[in-house]
Amino acid sequence: MLSIQNLSFSYGAVQALRNINMTMAESRVTCVMGRNGVGKTTLMKNIMGLLRPTAGSILTADGDITPLSAHRRARAGLALVPEGRQIFPNLTVEENLQVSLAARRDGSKTIPGHVYELFPGLKTMLKRMGGDLSGGQQQQLAIARSLVAQPKVLLLDEPTEGIQPNIIKQIGQVLHTLTRDLKITVVLVEQYLDFVKEFGHQFYIMNRGQVVAEGATSDLTSDIVRRHLSV
Ligand SMILES: Nc1ncnc2c1ncn2[C@@H]1O[C@H](COP(=O)(O)OP(=O)(O)OP(=O)(O)O)[C@@H](O)[C@H]1O
Ligand SMILES: [Mg+2]
Repeated sequence: MLSIQNLSFSYGAVQALRNINMTMAESRVTCVMGRNGVGKTTLMKNIMGLLRPTAGSILTADGDITPLSAHRRARAGLALVPEGRQIFPNLTVEENLQVSLAARRDGSKTIPGHVYELFPGLKTMLKRMGGDLSGGQQQQLAIARSLVAQPKVLLLDEPTEGIQPNIIKQIGQVLHTLTRDLKITVVLVEQYLDFVKEFGHQFYIMNRGQVVAEGATSDLTSDIVRRHLSV
């Protein structure tokens, strides 16, 4: 469970988040949608602790995490797969995965087997350089890397952007397994409506730093889409 209460954030004089309230249920995919520049990435960075809110709080099942640094939030079970899949191009696939072992709460030094089960393709490329993978493979690596830390809350910022359809489908199936079998709370920033409808449970739509619509993804009507998402 993740709860965001009355959260506001400003870049200097520019207010990017205004009194955001959201609840992300455990074992569910909650989608954060909205046009370009409405504050989705800013929200993810505030949740992860990479930006500090000017007001409000962020709570998990373990309590109020607002005072914690990004590092402590990672230790507390949060993980962020940032926009633009920032893997390390000059490290091998295996080394990219090993980087996340530092965030493990149990001090384990081995990649959990389920990471390779979720992404069998990666297991065949462990010695390849991250930068030599396709965009879709890099996105899978970025997600796999975040899972090495065994997060309880996974934040994904536009994972399908610029990715070929067959890999989008695979990523969707991974989300399904993460929520159903591993009971992970997933927050998915996503502009691809079909993906939201197929793999998401709840949605929030943002506009100019505010929540303007919310509900179950099964209730995402064409009227809501036209009003808040169409360009
Ligand atoms: N470092 C920054 N300094 C100042 N303003 C910023 C900074 N980063 C983002 N902004 C502004 O904050 C607002 C929200 O940006 P943000 O990147 O969170 O939007 P977004 O919804 O993720 O957009 P996109 O769909 O393009 O990824 C925008 O108006 C943007 O110009
Ligand atoms: Mg963004």
